[in-house]
Amino acid sequence: MKSADGQEEEQWASRHGFLLAAIGSAAGLGNIWRFSYVAGQNGGASFLIIYLVCILFIGLPIVIAEISIGRNAQSDAVQAFHHARPDQPWYLAGGLAVIGCFFILGFYSVIAGWSLKYFISALTGHLSETQDNSTFFSLFIAQPVEPIFWQAIMMAATVAVVAGGIQKGIEAVNRFLMPILVLIVVILAAYSLTLDDAGLGLAFLFTPDWSAFTRPAVYIAAIGQAFFSLGIGMAIFLTYGAYLPKSHSIPGAAATIVAGDSLLAIVAGLAIFPAVFSFGLNPAQGPELAFITLPELFLLMPGGRWLAILFFGLLVGAALTSMFSILEVPVAYFIRKTGRSRSTVALALGLIIFLLGAPASLGYSVFDSATMGGRNILELYDYAISNLLLPLGGISTALFAGWGWTKAKALGASEFNDKLSGRLWLFCLRFIAPIFIAWAFIALSFF
Ligand code: PHE
Repeated sequence: MKSADGQEEEQWASRHGFLLAAIGSAAGLGNIWRFSYVAGQNGGASFLIIYLVCILFIGLPIVIAEISIGRNAQSDAVQAFHHARPDQPWYLAGGLAVIGCFFILGFYSVIAGWSLKYFISALTGHLSETQDNSTFFSLFIAQPVEPIFWQAIMMAATVAVVAGGIQKGIEAVNRFLMPILVLIVVILAAYSLTLDDAGLGLAFLFTPDWSAFTRPAVYIAAIGQAFFSLGIGMAIFLTYGAYLPKSHSIPGAAATIVAGDSLLAIVAGLAIFPAVFSFGLNPAQGPELAFITLPELFLLMPGGRWLAILFFGLLVGAALTSMFSILEVPVAYFIRKTGRSRSTVALALGLIIFLLGAPASLGYSVFDSATMGGRNILELYDYAISNLLLPLGGISTALFAGWGWTKAKALGASEFNDKLSGRLWLFCLRFIAPIFIAWAFIALSFF
């Protein structure tokens, strides 16, 4: 198919391929590394319930909105908003997403690099030889060069796949990786559930502590995690949706993506918490949970080296499938803007993003004195992205689809089969999402 400006337009080879790539995009470090530590810090089950409610009433409607906006225009983030509403400056929401993706990927590639380092160390046996994992971790991140080296490799892999194009690059790699990742997480959860005190982990994850519902911090954490885990507000589903042929139902696809993402987070939780509790470790460790607590745990378990290989392999693969989608947002925009080839654009942006991420990596070594409110550069990236950037992007998308696009156009583009669900969707976008996100913003400044 050719677009209006004569350029060859890309499309997913099949609906199945689109769904795999979109679930691969949503499911990433957020579902494993971030979900486990945020759930661990916020009381487990109560957090999980609020998180699932946010996913259903805010996350799902925004995913439907993003795919609809993208597929309707069949173009990149900026052009898609402009196409839908040329008379108003909504394209700024697309611009925010394009810029946001630079920062997200910069920060994300650092953690992805750590995962690769751990995966290789598990393969070579170094990780299982180490007695004290907290020293292993702090020695590793305290050197300036090595973490940047691993970050660069993850970025290079991402650039190579995105340069390959939608079908031959992103779709092909997702088709290969996603089934393997699902298999690994299921194996890890099954193993974890056979441990003696697995019940304690299950109770933590599924038996709510009702008092947590009165703590605003838990709501803020849940909404931040819902945004991060799905990866909404940054035009990612919009951009992937632009390559979706017209004949496919959007609400069904969005529900599959959201269900797949949440299920993967829960299964990852089933892999992590029963093991953490069985060995009497602390689930509220913070960001180090995956990099210090879990490796320590692998040392104590029979067959731990294999578990470490599987776990860090899972992290690397899940990170990669998300990294493709984050890079694709600015790549699609700059291909249109500059008219240059996909490979040139992917390479140039990959380099810039790598440089933006490097300071976050150096935040533990060269720049370790650069902190704000007790957070180092990487923690500041994480905080600002999940609590400010993504909700800001999300609120703009919700307001646009709910109010900016006319009702008829929004309903037409999203193709709801029945009127009631279409109305419910618009109601979530118009009221529930903006009010709840705005409340979280305000609450964040007070707590
Ligand atoms: N959703 C991805 C994850 O869970 C990461 C992501 C975050 C992607 C934010 C885009 C935007 O790891």
